[in-house]
Amino acid sequence: MRNWQLVRSGVITLVMVTALGGAATAQELTEEQYGQTMGEVRLLVGDVSQFIDNRYWPELGETLDTLFPMFRQIEAFWQGRGNDSALAIAGESIAALQELGRAGIDMNVGAAQTGLGNLRATCGKCHGAHREPDGDGFKIKAGS
Ligand code: HEC
Repeated sequence: MRNWQLVRSGVITLVMVTALGGAATAQELTEEQYGQTMGEVRLLVGDVSQFIDNRYWPELGETLDTLFPMFRQIEAFWQGRGNDSALAIAGESIAALQELGRAGIDMNVGAAQTGLGNLRATCGKCHGAHREPDGDGFKIKAGS
């Protein structure tokens, strides 16, 4: 069982994260950094899933702290390319992260699973529209 102090600090982190979800970050990603960021996102979302299953709410809060600015950068990337479709999907990802943040504050496994499902749906939606195979890996779809 985790001690209350840890749980409390995680809850405070989550409150801050939910507030920060509205703020923008500046630095714009290159195409190469974009692919790297996606790889990191995949790993972090795997962590999120495990933290929900194990009810590790403080760790969930910390991971969301990391994911929020990454998705702000993803948004800025698509905004820079003038791709309104991808920009809108990235906005849906951020909405799902906020949903996860609220579920974490409530320590509600079911709501957190729903938020995670909504987040993952945005991955598939954007990949279907704006990603294409490139040899062993993937690249940004031509024209996206
Ligand atoms: C707004 C669009 C968008 C969203 C949202 C998005 N992706 Fe991506 N993703 C892309 C594009 C475009 C690529 C291809 C670019 C590349 O791989 O260099 C990509 C590539 C990837 C890759 C391959 C990286 C590599 O090494 O080439 C992974 C893994 C990935 N995404 C995971 C995720 C996960 C997990 C989510 C959701 C939590 C997600 N993505 C959400 C657009 C998106």
